[in-house]
Amino acid sequence: MTTAQADNITMSGGGLYSLATIGAKDVIDLATPRVLEALTPLLESNQGQWNFCDMGCADGGTSLELWRKVINRVRQTSASDIQVVYADQARNDFNALIQILHGHTEFNTYLPEFEHVSVLASGSSFYAQTLPADSLHLGFSATAMHWLSRKPCNISNHVHMVGAEEKDAVTFAAQARSDWETILLHRARELKVGGKLVLINFCRDQQGRYLGNTGGINMFDNFNAIWQQFLADGEIDQAEYDAMTLPQYYNSVDEFSAPLLDQKSAVYQSGLRLIDIDTAVVPCPFAADYRQHQDAGKFSREYIPTIRSWNESIFYGGLSTSRSAADRTHLIERYYGEYQRQVADNPQGHGMDYVHAYMTIERV
Ligand SMILES: C[S@@+](CC[C@H](N)C(=O)[O-])C[C@H]1O[C@@H](n2cnc3c(N)ncnc32)[C@H](O)[C@@H]1O
Repeated sequence: MTTAQADNITMSGGGLYSLATIGAKDVIDLATPRVLEALTPLLESNQGQWNFCDMGCADGGTSLELWRKVINRVRQTSASDIQVVYADQARNDFNALIQILHGHTEFNTYLPEFEHVSVLASGSSFYAQTLPADSLHLGFSATAMHWLSRKPCNISNHVHMVGAEEKDAVTFAAQARSDWETILLHRARELKVGGKLVLINFCRDQQGRYLGNTGGINMFDNFNAIWQQFLADGEIDQAEYDAMTLPQYYNSVDEFSAPLLDQKSAVYQSGLRLIDIDTAVVPCPFAADYRQHQDAGKFSREYIPTIRSWNESIFYGGLSTSRSAADRTHLIERYYGEYQRQVADNPQGHGMDYVHAYMTIERV
């Protein structure tokens, strides 16, 4: 069976994802107390094997520290076998994941520190059941579930739903509502009674902030403005501009909470309950560094790879396949080169602060 997955979503491979996205690790580190708290009641109730899952794990580098802490905590009271399933969509660079976990890179893996810990890789999408029913103690996911199962339409005026006009915004919201429910229903089946989910997802917070839009230059408007300039200059055509739409949605706190609070919803009836939801802004580490070193060129060279790591595959995929690969690559280089030039020339206000909803969910 193939699993639902929008096309062209791949992070940078070869461990580059984790090297380029220090901020994503900061986001996970902030969630660690929440994960340990979710685990605490399970330490008393579970006498047997432990099953954990990291959904949308990419190369696994950003969550190593989290899982080290979780396993350490389990080992304080239990010597039972622990299984951590690292799941991501099938196009993920699982080779990088395996090498990082097994200590073949500069990342500091936790595996040699523990006995009876198995790590397994799964290419199942979170839009499908990944684990056997009633088996999961704690499921975790960070910065992944904003990727929709499909692009419901091209956005006519923008590359992202955060800038979409009403009609396209409504279409994206409907897709996101259905996708969120699908994700939760699969997890409800996998979780044991009393099992927990800690999900950290990009959001639009109560002050209207979202990734790359926390007061300075709006990163998504800038992505769009540069492609629109390419379009106006005849560098790309209308069909290519249209295809640049990112298949993502940033839910609000209300949108995340709705199916977990509505007693009539299939999600509520599956036994899932929202324990807690909060939002947090994690500052862009590259912009923070820049404020110290004041070297605009260095900032621009460090900042652009973090953006590229997650949207290059979509933008590359938007370019016509009638172009040669070299032509597509050249356009992509010029696109990010233009963004980098803008940051180097005028760094003020650039940066990609992370805005997340942090959720704990229980199956009762
Ligand atoms: C920004 S990375 C986050 C990686 C890591 N969790 C972190 O926080 O650093 C998003 C990940 O979600 C994965 N992803 C996107 N859609 C997915 C799906 N339907 N099922 C599983 N993983 C998916 C991508 O392949 C990518 O590895």
